[in-house]
Amino acid sequence: MKIALWGATGRLGRSIVDSFPHWQREAELTCYGRGSSAEAASKADVIIECSRDDGLSVLLDGLQGDAAIVIGSTNINPHNQKFLEQRALTHRVFAASNFSRSLALLEAFCTMVPQSFESVLIETHHEGKKDAPSGTAKTLARALQHQGLITSIRTHHDSIGEHEVRLYRDHESLEINHRITSRSVFAQGALDAAWFLVHNPHINRIVGMQDLVKNELRTDTQ
Ligand SMILES: NC(=O)c1ccc[n+]([C@@H]2O[C@H](COP(=O)([O-])OP(=O)(O)OC[C@H]3O[C@@H](n4cnc5c(N)ncnc54)[C@H](OP(=O)(O)O)[C@@H]3O)[C@@H](O)[C@H]2O)c1
Repeated sequence: MKIALWGATGRLGRSIVDSFPHWQREAELTCYGRGSSAEAASKADVIIECSRDDGLSVLLDGLQGDAAIVIGSTNINPHNQKFLEQRALTHRVFAASNFSRSLALLEAFCTMVPQSFESVLIETHHEGKKDAPSGTAKTLARALQHQGLITSIRTHHDSIGEHEVRLYRDHESLEINHRITSRSVFAQGALDAAWFLVHNPHINRIVGMQDLVKNELRTDTQ
């Protein structure tokens, strides 16, 4: 399996490069950065994108052929979002605002919370993160049908990603805190997403971590 990594010099990209030698799959990884040719990257079986929305636009403008795409960037503009939705009708597309499996489980849990609970959402990231609220916080807010604000904290500390969900109802409360302590969690998820896409040829919609986790659950119980 040939993987093109688009945005290889960034934080997430470097982490994928570092994790790749420990990933137990038959694959080749080629790195692409600013100024690279999207046409060249399109020759891979699957492209992992982690170049932020600007880089994603360059990739989609120059994309050719049938490569599957794993989108890691958050805060995707409506034009790119529409392009991906159209492409997913005929080509494989995976998108995740967070490549962590446990965050996917938290998202699934959030869809089950009744509207009688009041929710509070807090996210904390390093100060280099450009978008606020984070894509993950928006994903959790959608799952919760959260009506209120999302509190975003940016810190000098290299906080890779913390998301806290608080639920209140009458005389009870529930707090769930998800914290990533190594970008290798994202890297592993991104590489596994690429494998999942290449080995599931009949996908015809944008899939994500929920689909990957459900697929693993099915495989575990067989
Ligand atoms: N899905 C997840 O689990 C997950 C996890 C973490 C982050 N993210 C998201 O992933 C994205 C990247 O995060 P990051 O922290 O790695 O950001 P980053 O450190 O700023 O890296 C961005 C990368 O994209 C490249 N780039 C920017 N514009 C480009 C262009 N026009 N053409 C080609 N490459 C371009 C940058 O190149 P230069 O170095 O030359 O600027 C850099 O290599 C963000 O949207 C972030 O929110 C997602």
